[in-house]
Amino acid sequence: MRVNDKDYRTVWMEDGVVKLINQPLLPNTFEIYSCQNYRQTAEAIKTMIVRGAGAIGAAAGYAIAQAYLSDEDIQKAAQVIKNTRPTAQNLFYAVDKVLKAADKKEALSIAQQIADEDAQACKTIGEFGVPLLKDNAQILTHCNAGWLAFVDWGTALSPIYAAKRQGKKLFVFVDETRPRLQGARLTAWELSQEKIPHAVIADNAAGYYMKKQQIDLVITGADRIALNGDTANKIGTYEKAVLAKENNIPFYMAAPLSTIDFTCESGDAIPIEERDEKEVLEVRGVRLTPNQSRAKNPAFDVTPAHYIKGIITEKGIFKPDKIKQLAPQ
Ligand code: MRU
Repeated sequence: MRVNDKDYRTVWMEDGVVKLINQPLLPNTFEIYSCQNYRQTAEAIKTMIVRGAGAIGAAAGYAIAQAYLSDEDIQKAAQVIKNTRPTAQNLFYAVDKVLKAADKKEALSIAQQIADEDAQACKTIGEFGVPLLKDNAQILTHCNAGWLAFVDWGTALSPIYAAKRQGKKLFVFVDETRPRLQGARLTAWELSQEKIPHAVIADNAAGYYMKKQQIDLVITGADRIALNGDTANKIGTYEKAVLAKENNIPFYMAAPLSTIDFTCESGDAIPIEERDEKEVLEVRGVRLTPNQSRAKNPAFDVTPAHYIKGIITEKGIFKPDKIKQLAPQ
């Protein structure tokens, strides 16, 4: 993607250093963050300097490659990296794939392949998704499943970018996505860069616009897809899916195959990350709530398969109950 007339990926590796677009600083500051070793890369995943399923996966793959390059204990490194964030399947996919490397050279090449495949899969998701978007379509999205959440292009936003390039006119409703505001800060920033008309809405406003028939379809990303099609995504996704069904609005999710957990039978088995209560109690360090109040902060929820009309992948659009067909033979 182009930022200030330059092509960027969200995550890449240069001379053993993992480079990341520093996401907590956006949209106010665009800065590249450097991780010198796997511990720093793992910390960047944990603190969400890099976030979003595909970007986390690519960073995790590069982190294992860093461990190989500096002759670290690879199994220990894998454990540290896997302990950063529990929900996004791409992280586990990438770590396990690079762990198969026989030597440094192979580790580097597998990590690079994971990043390249992520970018290519996302581009293809855009091509498969674009026919869903009619001219003048009004789309709702939740959280950020654009190029900042992947190596490039994104998933939920990729069909929108492809449609824009074909000259279609679109309007995007962007859920702000409390508590970390990935929609308000990151999706809105991406859409601004691409000059796509959009409006940020409070998380609880989506039903209002759905009922008024101002939303033609919903597309979100996904963090982990179970074999029965149940899908984990950013907290608040489930309620958007229920509202969409109530209002007869098609609800799609978009994800590369690396987000499917072929060992997980149903959504009940997907681990849900619980994050620091401060993310809910404070905004940018300013306390919103009484000092005595506690908060709960699940980062993801699971949308049952029957609410999902289709999952857009790099192999085509699948009904959720057909996702198991994509298992590697
Ligand atoms: O906690 P995050 O920001 O890493 O959450 C991931 C997400 O951005 C969303 O859940 C997204 O819709 C799917 S991952 C691209």
